Formats: sequence, C-alpha cells, structure tokens
Amino acid sequence: MRKFRWGILGTGSIARQFVRGLNSVPEAEVLAVGSRSEASAEKFADKRNIPRRYASYKALASDPDVDVVYIATPHPFHAENATLCLEAGKAVLCEKPFCVNAAEAERVVGLAKENGLFLMEGMWTRFFPLMEEVRRLVSEGSLGEVRMLNVDFGFRADPDPASRLFDPGLGGGALLDVGVYCVSFASMVLGRASGSVGISHLGETGVDEQASVVLEHEGGRLANLSIGIRTTTPQEATIMGTEAYVRIHAPWWRPESMTISRPGTEDETVEAPVSGNGFGYEAAEVMRCLEAGKTESEIMPLDETVSVMRTMDSIRAAWGLRYPGEEVTS
Ligand SMILES: NC(=O)c1ccc[n+]([C@@H]2O[C@H](COP(=O)([O-])OP(=O)(O)OC[C@H]3O[C@@H](n4cnc5c(N)ncnc54)[C@H](OP(=O)(O)O)[C@@H]3O)[C@@H](O)[C@H]2O)c1
Repeated sequence: MRKFRWGILGTGSIARQFVRGLNSVPEAEVLAVGSRSEASAEKFADKRNIPRRYASYKALASDPDVDVVYIATPHPFHAENATLCLEAGKAVLCEKPFCVNAAEAERVVGLAKENGLFLMEGMWTRFFPLMEEVRRLVSEGSLGEVRMLNVDFGFRADPDPASRLFDPGLGGGALLDVGVYCVSFASMVLGRASGSVGISHLGETGVDEQASVVLEHEGGRLANLSIGIRTTTPQEATIMGTEAYVRIHAPWWRPESMTISRPGTEDETVEAPVSGNGFGYEAAEVMRCLEAGKTESEIMPLDETVSVMRTMDSIRAAWGLRYPGEEVTS
C-alpha cells in the first residue's frame, strides 16, 4: 500500500491521541497540522515532528500534498470544517459526533458524494478487533435471535461551564459526546432505530448531564442506553439473544474481551488484544478505502452516520434541547 499523507485540523486533546495512533500505522505519514493560531500549530508540530504547520484551517486544506484531513474540533464546527476540506478536494475523517444534527450531516455527506470524495465519521470503536468478533457473533446467530441490548457510557467531569462538555455553544451534553457511541452501537447490532423515548436531566448550562433512553428497532427489539457526563457508569455493553447473552467489557476505550453466557454452560471468554492506543484501526480503515478507490467505509457507512444523527435529533427534540443557531430539523 502506498503512503497516505495526513493533515490534522485542530490541536486539542483528541488530535494529540490520534497522531499517536497514526504514528503506529506504517502507511500513514503525518504531513501537516492546522490551527486557529500559529503558536498552537507550531507547538503541536514541534512536539510531534510534523513538517508543515499552518495558522489557519484553510491553509491546511489548501496544501496540495495532503491526501486526507482528520477533523478534531468541537462538534459545532465539524460541518464547516469538513465542508472546507471537501471543497478543497480532500478525503475527510471527521470526529464523532459527525455533526450537531442530521441536517448538517446530510449537507456534508451530499457534498462528498457530489465530488466523489471519501468521507467517514471517526466512530473509532467500530474498528477494534473485538468489535469485528461482536459483529461475527451476532451475524452467525451464536446468541440466537438478538432481542435487546444494554449499553452505557458515563464518566465524571468537573462541571466547568466554559468547557466543551458543558457549553451549549460548543455542543455540550452527554448525548452528543458519549450517547453517540451508544446509539451507534445499537445501530450496528440492531439496525436503524425506528423510535425512541428518553428522560434527561438538563444541568445549569442547559445541556443534558445524564439521560436514560430506550430505542426501538425493527421487530420490537430494544436498546437501553444510560449516559452521563457527571456520573460514573460501568461502561459495558450487553447484547441479549434468545439463546445467550454477551457482555463486552470496556467497549469504548480498550475493548479486549467479552464474556458469552449460555444458560446451563460455563461462561466463555473471547479475547482480542488492542495494539497501540487504538486510533490506528480507524486510520487503517480510511487508508484501505482510499487505496481501493472507495468513497465510504462499509463498516461505518454514511447513511448510517446520518440515521444515527436523526435518532439523536429526535431524542433531543423530546427534551426541548436545541443548540444556539440550530435549525429546527424535526
Ligand atoms: N474518538 C474519541 O475517543 C474522542 C475523544 C474525545 C473527543 N472526541 C471528539 O473530538 C472533538 C474534539 O474534542 P477534544 O476533546 O479534542 O476538544 P478540545 O481538547 O477542546 O480541542 C478542540 C480543538 O478544536 C479547535 N477549535 C476550533 N474552534 C474552537 C472553539 N471555538 N473552541 C475550542 N476549540 C476550538 C482547537 O484547536 P486550534 O486551537 O488548534 O484551532 C481545539 O484545540 C469533539 O467533537 C469530540 O466529540 C473524540
């Protein structure tokens, strides 16, 4: 496989981790970084030996030698940043949640399709080796017919109103930050959701600090989601079928094992170790697709990204949670 030259858009905490992941993938070269500020671009690049550094996102997108841009800004800027890069002819990997709402997501997906450019949501958890095992287990019918799942993602953050997690202007709240993993997981296992009910607690800044959501899927299959940004949760996913259930341990950070339980038999453990910090897997998928001339990934297809955003729109609509400047979409 040829080498692909990456540009990093934004210099925050996930950009730092992603570059570490990229450095463990031989086909990837981190060529350039773009920041809103020259000092930040220089600092980020110096520390990581990135040869080209730009004091604007536009300059990064205009570098003719960059093959693919990784977008690592807060969610409300994903649509604008992805549009900039696609209009400059770049392939794009955009952090989760793909956008703030489905209307934005549809516009960005439409632009990529019109221009025949690769685009993918950075739902990195889908690309861990264990998640391949999960998909195999479900599709082979090892659990019987899958009827239900429980999934949670909560952690305790300090309630800083200026932070990305709590500021509505930066797309704060549990659903967009961690709930998206759970909705996407349910979609991967049960297909697209047909309905939802949820209860949230909106905190002082007006964003959802915790929520319980039930998603309805075809045939009466259900997904129970518990999410939070001020609540510590076990971070586990359990898929329940008519014959057995499987518990996936630490599904969001380092899923390396799952336990299958069948009534009347000993539990079985399946292991699939993670190499590096885990971000290399999604990057490898992007480069496999580019090498094969594909414009989207079969593991994280664009219509599924949009349908997950639609589900999140309808969950939020029931809570009356709208972000500044957001169009009414449902
Ligand atoms: N995959 C994962 O596991 C994972 C984990 C955490 C976060 N994320 C996602 O990654 C995205 C970024 O999260 P993060 O935690 O890295 O955020 P962060 O540390 O706050 O960094 C965001 C970066 O975006 C840029 N930016 C552009 N406009 C901004 C604005 N108005 N305010 C603040 N920053 C702005 C800044 O870079 P410059 O100053 O260089 O322009 C900043 O450093 C989010 O969408 C989040 O959901 C994914």
